[in-house]
Amino acid sequence: MTLQSRNLSLAYGKRVVVEGLDLDVPEGRVTAIVGPNGCGKSTALRGLARLLRPTAGQVLLDGTDIHSLPTRTVARRVGLLPQSPIVPEGITVAELVARGRHPHHGLLRQWTRDDDRIVAESLERTHTTDLAGRPVDQLSGGQRQRVWIAMALAQRTGLLLLDEPTSFLDIAHQVEVLDLVRDLSVEDGTTVVMVLHDLPLAARYADHLIAMRDGAIVAEGRPRDVVTADTVCDVFGITCRVRWEHAGDVSVIPLGRHLPTHGQESPEEPPHARVRVAGRP
Ligand SMILES: Nc1ncnc2c1ncn2[C@@H]1O[C@H](COP(=O)(O)OP(=O)(O)O)[C@@H](O)[C@H]1O
Ligand SMILES: [Mg+2]
Repeated sequence: MTLQSRNLSLAYGKRVVVEGLDLDVPEGRVTAIVGPNGCGKSTALRGLARLLRPTAGQVLLDGTDIHSLPTRTVARRVGLLPQSPIVPEGITVAELVARGRHPHHGLLRQWTRDDDRIVAESLERTHTTDLAGRPVDQLSGGQRQRVWIAMALAQRTGLLLLDEPTSFLDIAHQVEVLDLVRDLSVEDGTTVVMVLHDLPLAARYADHLIAMRDGAIVAEGRPRDVVTADTVCDVFGITCRVRWEHAGDVSVIPLGRHLPTHGQESPEEPPHARVRVAGRP
C-alpha cells in the first residue's frame, strides 16, 4: 500500500501550518519524522490520515485521492495513534482495544473469534494483557500509551501513523515499543510513519528520516545522511556534536552555554556520588 502527498497544504482557519509537502512514504518501511515543537508534524500526520482536508494538494493512498475514498475504507487501511488521544470515560483496556476492530465490522460482519484472537494478540504484543480489565483512565501515562498502541495494532492496517508513540515511556518501554514497530515492519510488512523526538533512537529504528521545520521538509533520506550537525542546527537551531559509530548508531550531544558540571577542577567540588545497587554492599 502506498501513501504519498503532492503539494499538500494544511491549515487551521486562515493559518497555514503545512505547505507544499511532497512525500513518498517508503512501503513496508519505518519512516520517522523529527522537528521542533509546533513545526507541523502532528498536522502533517492528521492530513495523511484524512482527519484534515487539505487547502491545496492531495494525499494519495494507492494512487487514489484519500478524500474520494469512503471513511471505512480509509479506517481499514490507515491506523492513526494521535499525540494526545482522548480516553472515552470509564472504558476498560479490553473495550478500548476491541474498538480497533470496529472498522472491520458492519451490518453483515459481526464480532467473531478472529476478532477475539486479534485483540488478545494486540494486548500480548504490547504487554498489556494484565491490564485488560482495568479502566484506561486509571492507568499511568506509560501504561496508557501502550494500550493505545494495542488499539492501533488491533486495527490490523497495512499503514500505521504513530504520533510520538514513545512519549511518557521510560527508556526500557521506549525501546520495547520501537522494537515492536520494527517487528511490524519486518515481519508483517507494515508501513510505519512515526513522529519521534529522540534523534539517536529515530536514527536507529527508522529506515527513512524526515526532518521538518516551519511546516516543510528540510532534509530527508537515510538517517546517516540526515542526522548531521548542520541539519540539526538548521532544524532545531542548536549547536551539537554528532558522532556516527560503525554499527549505525549515532550520538547527538547538544552543546548549550554550560560545560558539564562534573569533571572540572574545583576546590569546592562535591564528593562523587556513590551508586548503590540494592542487595549489594
Ligand atoms: N487544532 C488546532 N487549531 C489551531 N491551530 C492548531 C491546531 N493544532 C495545531 N495548531 C497549530 O499548528 C502548528 C503546528 O502544530 P502541530 O502540528 O501540533 O506541531 P508539532 O506536532 O510539530 O508539535 C502550531 O503552531 C499549533 O499551535
Ligand atoms: Mg505534535
